[in-house]
Amino acid sequence: MRCTAIPRSSRSTIIHAKTKVLSIFGTRPEAIKMAPLVRALAAEPGIESSVCVTGQHRSMLQQVLDLFEIQADHNLDVMVPDQTLNGLSARLFVAIDELLADTTPDRVLVHGDTTTAMVAAMAAFHRQIPVAHVEAGLRTYDMGQPWPEEMNRRAIDVASDLLFAPTASSRENLQAERLCGRILVTGNTVVDALQLTVSRIEADPAFRAGLDAQLPPLAPDRKLLLVTGHRRENFGGGFENICRALAQLAQRDDIQIVYPVHLNPKVRGPVLAELSGLDNVHLIEPLDYFQFVRLMQQAHVILTDSGGVQEEAPSLSKPVLVMRDVTERPEAVNAGTVRLVGTKVHSIVDSVSTLFENDSLRHAFSLRENPYGDGHASQRIVNAIMDRPFTQFAS
Ligand code: UD1
Ligand code: UDP
Repeated sequence: MRCTAIPRSSRSTIIHAKTKVLSIFGTRPEAIKMAPLVRALAAEPGIESSVCVTGQHRSMLQQVLDLFEIQADHNLDVMVPDQTLNGLSARLFVAIDELLADTTPDRVLVHGDTTTAMVAAMAAFHRQIPVAHVEAGLRTYDMGQPWPEEMNRRAIDVASDLLFAPTASSRENLQAERLCGRILVTGNTVVDALQLTVSRIEADPAFRAGLDAQLPPLAPDRKLLLVTGHRRENFGGGFENICRALAQLAQRDDIQIVYPVHLNPKVRGPVLAELSGLDNVHLIEPLDYFQFVRLMQQAHVILTDSGGVQEEAPSLSKPVLVMRDVTERPEAVNAGTVRLVGTKVHSIVDSVSTLFENDSLRHAFSLRENPYGDGHASQRIVNAIMDRPFTQFAS
């Protein structure tokens, strides 16, 4: 049986000279991944592009907007300290609904799997405004990991009429679910963002030196373990284990650990309590994207639970150990550049130690190509919105 898309609201069928596209995002990773797309939308003569930032994140979002020179047309400023998922969702539903009523876009664009993206997709669906989902089709098929993102991403995919799958395997997930939306494989826009950033760093030695001066001084005789961690399913016992593992690793005489600590109080609490003052551990504030990419370039090993970092590291030929039991991004695991190590102390310590002690194993993590994208995802997405033919990304 064929699937029927939602009827469009009478307002969205009004013919405008240009297609009014409203991009809605609210957290650091969405902003990084939407930044190149916002640029490509603005450069398309057939599109009238506007940007709404929800402010689900505040300073971590603003860092990205400043760096990529994105002027938001609307800022809903919904963040409150230590927000709950339901409190955040409620504020988002009210604010986004008012915005949609005022601005009457022809299409709403959302990214990924955050609460912002899920609520924006639902709110647009309720107003019968077509939704396009950037980074569609990632799945673990485990509702507890990542939580609540697995549910968010599925709900958004059901509500969307355009599904921009980054890879062939995400397309296969969507096809198996018999969704109504049209599926196109575009590559992941994070590779577009990373390429823009790396070319700026590499082309401009003064800029690079300026970035290095903003980072913690790195000892030349110690190898860098770069750490990030923030996932809700790791709160509590998971973070206690991560901290214990880092404290053990810090005793090595060949290591220096740099950990830009996420602003979520549920992360900062245990991390600052357990690791402050330890030799060889630099706990620092979240870095802006240029600074963070520069640090990734210098890392010996990256230890993380981040989704975006898993997708970026292959472009930088860096080994990534992921502190999760499952990932919705299997491509780099299958290609051998990412390894899942879970959150048990001995597993984290052993995995990092092995890569610090065995260079040939570490080099085996290097890839020639990034399975997540080729730097042209944003233009493919613009072409799809304009209903132009284009060659899909072959991952
Ligand atoms: C959110 C996303 C997660 C994404 C992560 C990226 C959901 C359900 N989760 O998780 O998928 O991987 O962002 O980082 O949408 N805070 C600040 N300033 C900031 C940002 C956060 O103070 O700039 C603090 C606030 O106390 C806030 C808390 O962090 O209440 C939690 O933020 P929230 O966006 O709800 O969750 P994240 O854990 O950041
Ligand atoms: N990042 C950053 N500064 C930091 C840590 C990470 O700019 O201090 C970038 C990182 O390169 C990646 C993104 O933030 O592009 C990942 O965000 P996060 O880990 O918060 O979320 P996730 O990707 O897990 O959703």
